[in-house]
Amino acid sequence: MKPLFSPLVLALCVPGLPAIASETTFQQVKVAAGATLFEAECRRCHAADASDASYGPPLENIIGRAAGSYPDYDYSIALEASGIVWTPAALRAWMEDNDGFMPGTKMRHVGIEDATVQAFILAYLESITTRDGSEISK
Ligand code: HEC
Repeated sequence: MKPLFSPLVLALCVPGLPAIASETTFQQVKVAAGATLFEAECRRCHAADASDASYGPPLENIIGRAAGSYPDYDYSIALEASGIVWTPAALRAWMEDNDGFMPGTKMRHVGIEDATVQAFILAYLESITTRDGSEISK
């Protein structure tokens, strides 16, 4: 007669702690990959925080931020009047086709269509977002 649970099935079901540990590791890897991609694709125009000079608006606290709301930044009328909030979905659409998503924006087309690359960059943007809007100390 076959055993009800094979040792393999048991081995897959039992460990709880290693699963939690590896989730943390995945998150760290995603943030690190996102930081590298941000450096390559976005950093030449965007600083992560207000202490660095940047041609585009700094992206600190961008997730959940109202579009066009960074103090004293000279936005295009299109972005300023858009009335949107930067949710992860809006940021994906923006990375994929920013000038199609928002005609009239002055951000040059970036065209990041790969959903995995978008997810990495989002993980990084999440890591530089505090929910209460306070500045991130580095
Ligand atoms: C060539 C320069 C340039 C690059 C590269 C660039 N951006 Fe931008 N970005 C801008 C400018 C300029 C604006 C302001 C656009 C406007 O006012 O229409 C902007 C605006 C934004 C906004 C809106 C911010 C707000 O305060 O509403 C987000 C979000 C954003 N960029 C994300 C990114 C991400 C993510 C990348 C990399 C994948 C990226 N950008 C790459 C120049 C750039």
